[in-house]
Formats: sequence, C-alpha cells, structure tokens
Amino acid sequence: MKAVVFHGPRDVRVERVPDPQIEAATDVLVKITTTGICGSDLHMYEGRTGLEPGRVLGHENLGKVVEIGAAVEEVQVGDRVCVPFNVSCGYCKNCERGLTAFCLTMNPFGAGAAYGFDGLGPYNGGQAEYLRVPHGDFNCLRLPSDRALKETDYVMCADIFPTGYHATHLAGVRPGESVVIYGAGPVGLMAAYSALIKGADRVMVVDAHTERLRIAEEIGAIPIDDRKAPPVEQVLDLTDGEGADRGCECVGFQAHDPDGIEHPSMTLNDLVRSVRPTGTFGVVGVFLPQDPGACDEVSKHGEMLFDFGDFWWKGQAMATGQCNVKTYNRHLRDLIADDKAAPSFVVSHELSLDEAPEAYRHFDARENGWTKVVLHP
Ligand SMILES: NC(=O)c1ccc[n+]([C@@H]2O[C@H](COP(=O)([O-])OP(=O)(O)OC[C@H]3O[C@@H](n4cnc5c(N)ncnc54)[C@H](O)[C@@H]3O)[C@@H](O)[C@H]2O)c1
Ligand SMILES: [Zn+2]
Ligand SMILES: [Zn+2]
Repeated sequence: MKAVVFHGPRDVRVERVPDPQIEAATDVLVKITTTGICGSDLHMYEGRTGLEPGRVLGHENLGKVVEIGAAVEEVQVGDRVCVPFNVSCGYCKNCERGLTAFCLTMNPFGAGAAYGFDGLGPYNGGQAEYLRVPHGDFNCLRLPSDRALKETDYVMCADIFPTGYHATHLAGVRPGESVVIYGAGPVGLMAAYSALIKGADRVMVVDAHTERLRIAEEIGAIPIDDRKAPPVEQVLDLTDGEGADRGCECVGFQAHDPDGIEHPSMTLNDLVRSVRPTGTFGVVGVFLPQDPGACDEVSKHGEMLFDFGDFWWKGQAMATGQCNVKTYNRHLRDLIADDKAAPSFVVSHELSLDEAPEAYRHFDARENGWTKVVLHP
C-alpha cells in the first residue's frame, strides 16, 4: 500500500510499504478514506522527538472496515468508523476508569499508546491506504449514515475536537465563565469552539496568526493578537483587571514569542498571569520529557522555569495530558450528526495522499491559510 513514511527532520515521503495484516483476533483493518495532519505530527516532522525513520505517520483516521479478526463481535466489515488517536485495551486499570490515553497494556515502554507517534508504542499510522486497529470493538467509533456528507466533520472526532473539549474539561469551564486560550491552531480553535458549546461567556484566543485569529472571531471568540501588545495585558483589560476564570494551553513546548524565538514555559507563565486567583487551567499542548532540539540545557530534559510562586500564591490549579478520546468522541459525534456542531470549519485543505510532503511543508511553515489539512488516500 501507499503510506506517508517519516525519513528524518522535514523529510516525509509517500512510499510503498507492506499492507498491514490482522495480527490478533481482536484486530480490525480499516481502509482509510480521510486522515488528518496534526500539530503533533509537526513536532516529529521537525525532528524534535526521537521518532525513528521508517514509521508511517497519522493518528487522525477515518475509513471503512475491510477485515475483522475472529474475536471481533460488534464491528462489521463495511462499517464506517472514526478511530481515536489513542490505542487502548479497554480492560486495564486506567482504561476501566476512562483514561484511555494512559492505557497500561498497549505500550511496552510506558502508559499510553497512539498510532504513528514517538514514545507511544510501535504502531504505524493511518496516513496510508490501510490501518490496523488493535482491539477493534473497543477502539472503533461507528458513524451514522450521513457520514459521506460530513466526513471532514467526523474525522475531527479522532483527535482535535475531543482534545479541544478535553482542554475545557481539564480547565473546568462552566456556563457564563470567561476563558483564555493560548494557541489558535486547530486544537486551540477546537478548545474555543468547545468552550462556546459549553456556554462560556467570553472566550479569548491568543496567537500571532491573522488568518487563525480571524477563524476564532468567526466562531464567536475574541481574537488576541500578541504582536500588538502582551497578551496578559490584553486579557486583564478584557476582564476588569481580574483575569479569566479558566485557561487552556493549546501550544506546547515549542511556544514562541511573536518573533519566533522559543520559550517553552511562555504560555504556562502567561496563563498564571492572565487567569484569576483560584482559576484553573487545562494543558493539552504537548510537553516532552526529552527535547534534544531545545534552546537550552534545562529544556533538553523537559524542565523549565515555571512561575510556581505566583501559581501557588494565586491558589490556581492545573491539569495536563493527552486526551482520552473515548471519553468524548461518542457525544461529539452525536452533536455533529444532529447539526449542533460542525468542526470542519478548521479544515483549509483536502488533498490526496501523494500531496502529503507538500502539505507538511506548508502546514509546518504555518503559512497563511494552511490551518488544517486532511488527506484522502
Ligand atoms: N493533548 C493531546 O491529546 C493533544 C492532541 C492533539 C494535539 N496536541 C498538541 O496541541 C498543540 C497544538 O496543536 P495544533 O494542531 O493546534 O498545532 P499548531 O502548531 O498548528 O498550532 C499551535 C499554534 O500556537 C501558536 N503559538 C505559538 N506560540 C504561542 C504563544 N506563545 N502564545 C500563543 N500562541 C502561540 C502558533 O502560532 C500556532 O498557531 C501541539 O503541541 C500538539 O502536539 C495535543
Ligand atoms: Zn494529534
Ligand atoms: Zn488499557
């Protein structure tokens, strides 16, 4: 089959690789019809992780079931399914509690597994013609019959819609509250959208990209351009000097100032300063235990200068981590089915698998207009 293979920093190629096979009786094989490129792929694309060459990328997958293992009972050949980016077993101590991003059995090297991801197990991704889905009955989300019309909406249920929602969940967003979101990439836009779905009052989104801020404004959020004035000042101005009730971090360890200089702790410290005393924030932007490409020695080991004194003094709380997609994807799918949500508003490009190398280049450069790419293998 054809697949997007990682060869090294800024080098992905569409190549022929062996077709995936059913390996366990609980596996399902999916023919991919839509697969997204994520900001998380870019950390690997830029060589900021230890991902070994040869891995097929892609963890935002949707397609048609073409083969099932002997022990698969619920999912049938022909079903249209959206596959969470987490690979999880369903029966371990964490999965039982719904914490599928921290499954204890699917990654030999730690808690949590995902497709085409450094440090999260050996699984190949779905930027390819076919994908092997372990524990198919548990991991496949079946889609309703309008799926052909809303394929780019439903594919957002694999990662960024649940992840944006998770950020608001970790932050504890409630109706009527104000929320500040750092990052207007696809994840930040989904966090803003989710906060609005939850009935938040004032949703402020910080970034330096005109086009991304325009999309934030279009869905009803307040754009905050950090090239114009420090974002903390702008948030305090908009909240009577108090700070937002809640905050979401949707940028991660490659956070940078408007000149492009990286400061890994920048968004976290900005959150401490722009969220009110006793406010809470959710951090879904990725931070890594090791970053060989970091700008200084401390950051190379995932450590940083975090303003813990102010954080403690303000009595704030913070929750972090990968999204447990299965906690949310069924309900978010139903919002899409009932026309109450249409997260495909973030999609700027629908391209073929062969165009993946170009798509990576443009999306990685955060070129104006390249907000979110989905590929149709
Ligand atoms: N926790 C999870 O489960 C999960 C899932 C998906 C993605 N992620 C992570 O979420 C993050 C965002 O993903 P994305 O797809 O939106 O990526 P993206 O790279 O397209 O978007 C990040 C945005 O942050 C902006 N930014 C950079 N520095 C900033 C700063 N100091 N203040 C405000 N904005 C700043 C950039 O301009 C960019 O628009 C990434 O770290 C990604 O790995 C996490
Ligand atoms: Zn992702
Ligand atoms: Zn598990």
